[in-house]
Amino acid sequence: MSKLIVGNWKLNPESASEAEALASAVDRRGTVVCPPFLYLATLKKALKRAKLGSQDAFWLNSGAYTGEVSPSQLKSLGVKYVIVGHSERRRFLLESDEMINRKVEAVLHLKLNAILCIGEDLETHGRGGGAALAYIKEQLRRDLDNIDVKYLKNLIVAYEPVWAISTFQTGLRDTPENAQKTIEQIKDFLAKRYRLSQSVVLYGGSVNAANASGYLSQASIDGVLVGAASLKPNEFNKIGI
Ligand code: 13P
Repeated sequence: MSKLIVGNWKLNPESASEAEALASAVDRRGTVVCPPFLYLATLKKALKRAKLGSQDAFWLNSGAYTGEVSPSQLKSLGVKYVIVGHSERRRFLLESDEMINRKVEAVLHLKLNAILCIGEDLETHGRGGGAALAYIKEQLRRDLDNIDVKYLKNLIVAYEPVWAISTFQTGLRDTPENAQKTIEQIKDFLAKRYRLSQSVVLYGGSVNAANASGYLSQASIDGVLVGAASLKPNEFNKIGI
């Protein structure tokens, strides 16, 4: 199976014309591009090969919810992938596992691909002795709570250790071997608890052109979720080839 390369543009770029130019420069098969909501319509026109993704979705499809964007609106625009539960939303927007659970369910019910982000923080990581794995399993339990197993075939999990995100300067990142081990354990958990024998799990956290092949060559890592490097065509276009 070919590996999936997902770019998360986060709160970038500044204008629709920059978004259009960036989309055209990174447009290739096997990739997903997730711009801010504001540029989804622009990218829908600009992308010919890459699939369109969003960085979030609300848990209901309509109603009096000021400022929200629904999974059905995203679907009607041509969005195929929805990132849910990114650690930056958990941290800065105080999204709880309960909210994330409802979002994942709403996205999966529309047969969109949910990219559920999980990963331990620095403090948990530092504790060692299985603390990180326990933390991740608890996130999965809560975020997938009561979702009918039949919907989970469109679930993609992104393992993004929080301490390894946006750390290009410090060089702090998980090693490919360690990420492989953790992802193997995530897959094992998904297989045992949800009977998901073929789960798809990505790695994310300071992935760039120089280190991507280390992650992508690991047997259990099905792709990468890329932040900062997805804004640089000369970096992003080298990932996965
Ligand atoms: P960076 O690649 O910038 O560390 O971001 C990773 C990430 O959060 C992708 O969702």
